[in-house]
Amino acid sequence: MRSSCVLLAALVALAAYYVYIPLPGSIADPWRLMLLDATFRGAQQVSHLIHSLGLTHHLLALNFIIVSFGKKSAWSSPRVKVTDTDFDGVEVRVFEGAAKPGEPLRRSVLYMHGGGWALASASTCWSPSERYYDALCTAMAEELNAVIVSIEYRLVPRVYFPEQIHDVVRATKHFLQPEVLQKYSVDPGRIAVSGDSAGGNLAAALVQQFSQDVNLRNKIKLQALIYPVLQALDFNTPSYQQNANTPILPQSVMVKYWVYYFKGNCDFVQAMMVNNHTSLDVQEAASLRALLNWTALLPASMTKDYKPVWPPTGDARIIRELPQLLDVRSAPLLAAHEVLQHLPKTYILTCEHDVLRDDGIMYAKRLENAGVEVTLDHFEDGFHGCMIFTSWPTNFSVGIRTRNSYIKWLDQNL
Ligand SMILES: *[C@@H]1O[C@H](CO)[C@@H](O)[C@H](O)[C@H]1NC(C)=O
Ligand SMILES: *[C@@H]1O[C@H](CO)[C@@H](O)[C@H](O)[C@H]1NC(C)=O
Ligand SMILES: *[C@@H]1O[C@H](CO)[C@@H](O)[C@H](O)[C@H]1NC(C)=O
Repeated sequence: MRSSCVLLAALVALAAYYVYIPLPGSIADPWRLMLLDATFRGAQQVSHLIHSLGLTHHLLALNFIIVSFGKKSAWSSPRVKVTDTDFDGVEVRVFEGAAKPGEPLRRSVLYMHGGGWALASASTCWSPSERYYDALCTAMAEELNAVIVSIEYRLVPRVYFPEQIHDVVRATKHFLQPEVLQKYSVDPGRIAVSGDSAGGNLAAALVQQFSQDVNLRNKIKLQALIYPVLQALDFNTPSYQQNANTPILPQSVMVKYWVYYFKGNCDFVQAMMVNNHTSLDVQEAASLRALLNWTALLPASMTKDYKPVWPPTGDARIIRELPQLLDVRSAPLLAAHEVLQHLPKTYILTCEHDVLRDDGIMYAKRLENAGVEVTLDHFEDGFHGCMIFTSWPTNFSVGIRTRNSYIKWLDQNL
């Protein structure tokens, strides 16, 4: 009896130790976030174990675990018609909300989900009904009376950069054809491109590519980017420094996703975390640094006392092996001023407790400097990924507030 009590106490202590992480007081629902983070960390550890047993790639295993969790919160509404199809060979899931009375043509959003270019979809081996973003896309279709196209671009490790971009571009071009828009009763003048996290990265890259093409430039009315990933030049912006250990996206995990995206060598991760890949002696990075000068682009309330991390010498091998790190298609924040000038009206949502906060804020500032109309929607108690955590048991008040704010902006601007 006594020994089982001791064992139980030890297990509880061990579980508490595993779950507990110190969090700033201003973050939303800290205990719920700790549990979510512990679940995610547990899933990552299990998938690495599965990988080391030689059963399957750890990213495939992790995706399977995450999608299985997502299934519980699967969502449907009698007022939204959901169809799985393909656009020019790219899988898409189309959510059709009812048209507004008296308005036969509907608005539309092309949506790219997040997940580090590797997670959160189910396009490979299990039932498509288990996808993770159904709740968000259903709410958007219903509340905006719109057609939401969720693009199931192929994921790492099936394909690597730039295939993900090719997929979203192919599906979008297919959708923009007049006969396809007509089939879905979509107003060609009211189409947005949007995405969160790595999906925000793909959305930003796609919109930049389209804005360079005079035939496509005016077909996208707006872009809405939710805590987007926008650059790999500097992993020590103030938000990276401030949130290096913040769930659910610590600095080391974000850097790993970049390396996976390029099928790179994970031995580089430690060096990249101290900006050794873009040290001052790395010629390839020199001219780009001015585009991403956070001492000039961020407000003093965010730079605080953080110091830039620019090591004089680093490891020039990294950029030679992974030149994609500085490719504007993977890092839309590095686009030239002249490219930004042609971008459509933009919404960017950022969260204080997120390594990517400054990617979003710097992009907003650069767009504004280029004359683009920008709404920056910052959440002081938000954390990375919060917008998809809206239903029990992972219902966060900031998840619901970010989602409502995003949908409201689309409603007023699209
Ligand atoms: C960054 O901006 C600061 C402040 O405007 C300026 O003093 C500095 O020279 C800039 N650095 C680079 C690399 O452009
Ligand atoms: C970064 O580069 C410097 C100079 O080459 C080296 O001494 C240091 O160990 C590197 N840091 C990491 C974490 O790789
Ligand atoms: C989450 O959902 C539960 C059950 O519906 C509810 O009691 C709780 O207040 C919700 N929490 C938040 C932060 O919305």
